[in-house]
Amino acid sequence: MAKALSEILADDVRAALIAVLGDAARGADPLIRPSDHADFQANAVLPLAKAVKGNPRELATRVAAALVPAADSDAADAHAATTAAPTPIIAAVEVAGPGFLNLTLRDSALAAQTAERLGDPRLGVPPTALGRTTVIDYSQPNIAKEMHVGHLRSTVIGDALVRLLEFDGRTVVRQNHLGDWGTQFGMLIQYLVEHPGARPAEAEHSGEVAISWLTTLYRDARAEFEADAEFADRARKRVVTLQGGDAESLAAWEEMVAESKRYFEDVYARLDVRLVDADAVGESFYNPYLAEVAADLEQRGVAVRSNGALCVFFDDVKGPDGEPVPLIVQKSDGGFGYAATDLAAIRYRVDTLKADQILYVVDSRQALHFRMVFETARRAGYLPDEVEAVHVQFGSVLGKDGKPFKTRAGQTVRLIELLDSAVDHAVATVEEKNPELDAEHARAEAKVVGIGAVKYADLSTSRTKDYIFDLDRMVSLHGNTSVYLQYAHARIHSILRKLPAGTVSRVHAELALEPAERRLALHLDEFGATLATVSAEFEPHRLASYLYTLAQAFSDFYENCPVVKAPSDEVRENRAALVRLTADTLKLGLELLGISAPEQL
Ligand code: ARG
Repeated sequence: MAKALSEILADDVRAALIAVLGDAARGADPLIRPSDHADFQANAVLPLAKAVKGNPRELATRVAAALVPAADSDAADAHAATTAAPTPIIAAVEVAGPGFLNLTLRDSALAAQTAERLGDPRLGVPPTALGRTTVIDYSQPNIAKEMHVGHLRSTVIGDALVRLLEFDGRTVVRQNHLGDWGTQFGMLIQYLVEHPGARPAEAEHSGEVAISWLTTLYRDARAEFEADAEFADRARKRVVTLQGGDAESLAAWEEMVAESKRYFEDVYARLDVRLVDADAVGESFYNPYLAEVAADLEQRGVAVRSNGALCVFFDDVKGPDGEPVPLIVQKSDGGFGYAATDLAAIRYRVDTLKADQILYVVDSRQALHFRMVFETARRAGYLPDEVEAVHVQFGSVLGKDGKPFKTRAGQTVRLIELLDSAVDHAVATVEEKNPELDAEHARAEAKVVGIGAVKYADLSTSRTKDYIFDLDRMVSLHGNTSVYLQYAHARIHSILRKLPAGTVSRVHAELALEPAERRLALHLDEFGATLATVSAEFEPHRLASYLYTLAQAFSDFYENCPVVKAPSDEVRENRAALVRLTADTLKLGLELLGISAPEQL
């Protein structure tokens, strides 16, 4: 599997630094950066010279000589085989400014990398996390409620992370932590039992119909709960019968869960995300364990009774009045809430699911909750040191007015409607690009384009930032959008289709490369390193920017280097190899974000 050229270069420079500076350079970062003056620059000599009180220019000259012995530094690639150069990928090193090293790679080294990636279905990127298990908690909508844009973000980011981490070789266990438990179910069940007609008339109905009657049920039940003290009383008793396992109550609860799932599945299918029913492990699942978790925490002294409630305190968590704000494991009325469930879930995820990494894709407003839950779980030993728990937080979705995204009436935007309107917007884009397309095909393409656009808009902004939901911008053919990338990918395939029959994409390592070819090859070579950072930092937007830059590097290449009309068969084949690798990289990159890239659009 291919190490990126920048990584090989880093190893070489590290070795040369040690050869010249000895122990002082051991463990030092060679500080390799892309450069405008050469392919890369290495900036490590300056800080090291300072540390050893040496002359930076003089040291840099010696490091350069160690990298490319003087007699060979001008040698062209053609002579490479006859020189005993210790670093076969470097063509030239130049000392610049106070002691930077400008490094130029051999064209043959770029070609060899292209060849190696092209011949591999993983494009030369090795899996690095085989044998490790990530549990990822994402999507997490609430039963009998409309999903909101926060759930959309969690679903889209979570799905991308699932794909990225699986590609890296991890076993990924998806957990859809549905909000399917809590005292509100007393009110909902009671209302449903008293008003059987609240259900839709048709047994077979869509997810849209399901969420619509549930929303009405929720609204009506709440209204009655607030207006009628006797109903409120019956609702509270219903919570108790439900918890006691009463058959009628359970059946009503199960019906609401099933109806909601019908709706969630409709949304997931439209979004083309990998969540399935088996991934739904909601809050109710942990109900049988809560009392035991509470008792255990109390017995270990991690939680203490305070005004009747079972609480965990933290030195650094205080309210505005300076009073400590505890994590409440059990309320004074004996009820368990959100925190107890999350603690029980950690135990399950570590002990039963064998996670060594647990991710929570939840909006940043819950940061304090997760900090307290993780800390509590560490104190209790539920979360051992070697298990990583990360709150993968994200910002809010805003309307064009910069305020939280709502309908004009101030209500939650209905997700199905939102996704439908993304597809409607995309129809215009598809027709603009391809006016001959018939309506049916235009609609089919618009689905791919519109849904991709919604996902990409989310994934291409830095996760922790808020972003503005603007469909017109999302489906634009210009700028950093999935639409631009999908069309770039399709155009690249049309170039491949135009090649004279029998043309193979084959690397000819002996050919000298044009600057635009070198830039494209170098950028292609950074794919693996980009994926590594994305998976380590849970930052899909870095992959999005990588792909956008790749599409731009390709445009620049294609303007400067004719492919179909290349000057010779060898050059054409060599360029075809770059074209194909660009297409494959765009496709795989988009796929890892959860966005499909058809060959024809
Ligand atoms: N259902 C919750 C909500 O809609 C999010 C749950 C997040 N996950 C968790 N393990 N607490 O806000």
